[in-house]
Amino acid sequence: MIPIAKPLMGEEEKRAVIAVLESGQLAQGAKVQEFEGRFAAFCGVKHAIATSSGTTALHTALLAHGIGPGDEVITTPFTFIASANSILFTGAKPVFVDIEEGSYNINPALIEERITSRTKALLSVHLYGNPCDMEAIMGIADKHSLIVIEDACQAHGASVHGKKVGSFGTGCFSFYPTKNITTAEGGMITTNDDGVAEWARMIRQHGMRKRYYHEVLGYNFRLTDIQAAIGLAQLEKLAEWTAKRIANAKYLTEHLPNVVTPTVRDGYVHVFHQYTIRVSGDRDVVVEKLSAAGIGTAIYYPLPVHQQPVYRQLGYQDSLPVAEQVSRQVISLPVHPALTLAELDRIVSEVNRL
Ligand SMILES: Cc1ncc(COP(=O)(O)O)c(C=O)c1O
Repeated sequence: MIPIAKPLMGEEEKRAVIAVLESGQLAQGAKVQEFEGRFAAFCGVKHAIATSSGTTALHTALLAHGIGPGDEVITTPFTFIASANSILFTGAKPVFVDIEEGSYNINPALIEERITSRTKALLSVHLYGNPCDMEAIMGIADKHSLIVIEDACQAHGASVHGKKVGSFGTGCFSFYPTKNITTAEGGMITTNDDGVAEWARMIRQHGMRKRYYHEVLGYNFRLTDIQAAIGLAQLEKLAEWTAKRIANAKYLTEHLPNVVTPTVRDGYVHVFHQYTIRVSGDRDVVVEKLSAAGIGTAIYYPLPVHQQPVYRQLGYQDSLPVAEQVSRQVISLPVHPALTLAELDRIVSEVNRL
């Protein structure tokens, strides 16, 4: 079976973990700080704050911006549920705006009609590694004085006209094993705002700046030095892996004439966390056929967030036709950097036989 994702762990990661285990400093320490510094430089921002997951990065970032009960945050319904749940965790209300047909990201043309006096932030998600239309989103945010949170959990290194995602607003990244780099579990917040960085550091560590003086309600959302050591080794390899993902995606697109393939705007770098096609026939049959032919696939995501039972129970009744249709048609194919040319050819020939 060609797997849909394959975490790559080399000798560098193993040596780095053993060095931390032997050092005796296991929890958040010097390695976390080093990882934060390197990740900030990678994104072109002043600060990076490591957290225990992408979900806790989002939750912490929203809290660090002062978002809470009574506030509304505009976001996309076509994402992993953590993007929207992080808003609920703060007591604020997610407000969903439909997506674009081409990028599957939030449609900026529909945002302004959902802005109210309670809207505090726009939480955009760079789905599959494809940047949102950040020029339009930043324009709307400026016009209405809104905070921008970028869910870049799937988009390490993606950029818009040379500017990395996570540097437009406050960025949130995930290092879950299927992601473009991993620390097993882990997350990172990126920001140029000194105040937001300071609050995020406090919230991640029980609301304290000075040891055992707790200024605000905080959490234990820390990353460990063991994880940061893995992250540092992975970060060294990210450029090479991203180039491979992009080359694999290009190969697939050039050889798949019969399905809707991903689109990338001019000047945008899509880092292909996922390579997602759309099919018009019975998707379950397509998944079964590909599986029988030894090709792993995945559906990201089969049900938009506003239609999830948990959101229905909260009273959400939005009709968001593009997200609803796209969620019935998408299938992600393997695009990870470990694929060989022979495997790419197998994927191509099986998809073309559908
Ligand atoms: C778009 C998006 N947002 C948030 C998350 C949450 O990240 P994590 O699983 O590290 O908590 C993920 C990853 O799973 C994701 O893909």
